[in-house]
Amino acid sequence: MRDSVGVRSQGVTAMAYELDQFISDCRSILSQDPGPAGREKVRTQLERLLQNPDFVRRNCEEATRGLHVLYEDPELGFQVLAHINDKARVSPPHDHGDSWAIYGQATHYTDMTEWERKDDGADPAHAKLKPVKKYRLMPGHAGIYQDGKIHSIDYPDHARFVRVTGTNLDRIDRVRFDLKTGEVMRMTPQQAT
Ligand SMILES: [Fe+2]
Repeated sequence: MRDSVGVRSQGVTAMAYELDQFISDCRSILSQDPGPAGREKVRTQLERLLQNPDFVRRNCEEATRGLHVLYEDPELGFQVLAHINDKARVSPPHDHGDSWAIYGQATHYTDMTEWERKDDGADPAHAKLKPVKKYRLMPGHAGIYQDGKIHSIDYPDHARFVRVTGTNLDRIDRVRFDLKTGEVMRMTPQQAT
């Protein structure tokens, strides 16, 4: 039980994996490999961070409602965000522009749907989507959405999660999709996650 908080294992008291260590690991991982494999390593480290009950309590359970930027890297640009939700929400399918996003569940759950485009992309204002993957992210688990991936999220009241994004998504172009009309719409800052 190397990563457990205060668990004595083989005569050594393991230290909890803290936010500072996670950030430092993200920095070194993404400096060496900013591509999909590096991000996958960040995803597993985020799951490790979410095993720390003190981190979850301080930053998710006891935090005030809203979106909190826990860290933004001045050099690499990645962000660590705590999404403190009170109300249930279903998001429209959306992308993360030229960035990527990792969602780590802290409390309750998030139902994820991954989508693919069925159309040829010839019409920039309209798209046809089909769901290709559905699963539930439970506390301690993190899902990764590499650049260009389209997903939607559906969570109950009080579901809270920690998200790591490759950059500040408010500064880049992103789109969301209306499933009924097929309309492709530009997203405004903080419109959806
Ligand atoms: Fe998203």
